[in-house]
Amino acid sequence: MINNSQGMTGQILSRMRLPFRILQTHLLQKEKPLVVLLYLTDRCNLKCQYCVGHWSGRKIPDPTLVDVKSWIDQFVKMGTCHITVHGGEILLREDVGEIIDYMKFKGLYVNLVTNGILFPEKHKEIKNVDSLCISLDGRETANDANRGKGSHKKILAAIDTALQEGFNLSVHSTLTSNNYGEIEWLAQRAKKYGYSQQFSLLLKPFSECNQMVALSDSDIRKVLERILKLKKEGYPIFTSEGNLKNALKWPFPYEKAILGKAESAAHPELIPCYYGKLKVTVDTSGNVIPCAVLNNSFPAKNIRDVGFKKAYQHVIENRPCDRCYFLTSADWSLLLGLSPKMYWEQIKIQLKQIITR
Ligand SMILES: C[S@@+](CC[C@H](N)C(=O)[O-])C[C@H]1O[C@@H](n2cnc3c(N)ncnc32)[C@H](O)[C@@H]1O
Ligand code: SF4
Repeated sequence: MINNSQGMTGQILSRMRLPFRILQTHLLQKEKPLVVLLYLTDRCNLKCQYCVGHWSGRKIPDPTLVDVKSWIDQFVKMGTCHITVHGGEILLREDVGEIIDYMKFKGLYVNLVTNGILFPEKHKEIKNVDSLCISLDGRETANDANRGKGSHKKILAAIDTALQEGFNLSVHSTLTSNNYGEIEWLAQRAKKYGYSQQFSLLLKPFSECNQMVALSDSDIRKVLERILKLKKEGYPIFTSEGNLKNALKWPFPYEKAILGKAESAAHPELIPCYYGKLKVTVDTSGNVIPCAVLNNSFPAKNIRDVGFKKAYQHVIENRPCDRCYFLTSADWSLLLGLSPKMYWEQIKIQLKQIITR
């Protein structure tokens, strides 16, 4: 198994590759799609209250294995070194193992995001991923209010299996009015079991997600402060300090989540976005977009029609925004922008993880 047979040096080297490539890209001042977020199915076996996946109620067929392999070849040719495999629920694909193995064969770092439901029975198929993210929204009542009755037990079983099998694990939690009381429990659990914990705020303004479960502005601020406090107390929270502070000083109501270029210029204190520059999203239909938040609005070109190179160029030339407060996006932007503080935090978390595994 690559993820736990690499040994400590192998694990450190595989995690160093992306920062090195980011540095290279900055020095050469040439944009490359170093990171691709790839949606390979819109199908799912859960119906979470807030899911971005319901954004257009669309039923796009999964890209075929032949399509996916051709897309991967194109990414690699353009300089991609890191892929996050996303959905819908990716473990519903029969060929998920073959896809992961092909990505590894092409030399990519592979991160996979799953709801965990099928993980105990399918984990062997994806044993070669470099990192794994499982979604859990808190204790049973809170989690199941968000993610559906009965899901909590299955997600905990998936996390147990991932830890037993030595996967490089992080847990992702989306904060809503159902589960904003769960932050401390989630952080304590991460510390106890030795994985890293990520938090997201609802991508409320953009998705046709359930707005009823969205947090109010004052609750968002309280939540950010609590996460910041836990981080300062040493809990293994991936969400970075700079990112949390960025969201806390957001100068607009949270309903206004992204800033265009002119507004961004007036707010240089906020984190500049690297999506659509060094990271792009390819959705299930093959559309190439800056990030999932813009899925409905960006006039994308499709990889099937024009190829990845042209579709990526189109993204670079037409990216509509330059700053946002979304926690996962802003963390990536800090990494891609080579923020020293972010790297220092990450080195500490990752080393702790490697040593304790
Ligand atoms: C879209 S899901 C896809 C992968 C997998 N099915 C899962 O649930 O982990 C990836 C992550 O996005 C989160 N998510 C879904 N809808 C969201 C929304 N409207 N705002 C913020 N995060 C969301 C989920 O909680 C999950 O952790
Ligand atoms: S968040 Fe994930 S598990 Fe939940 S409905 Fe969306 S894609 Fe499915």
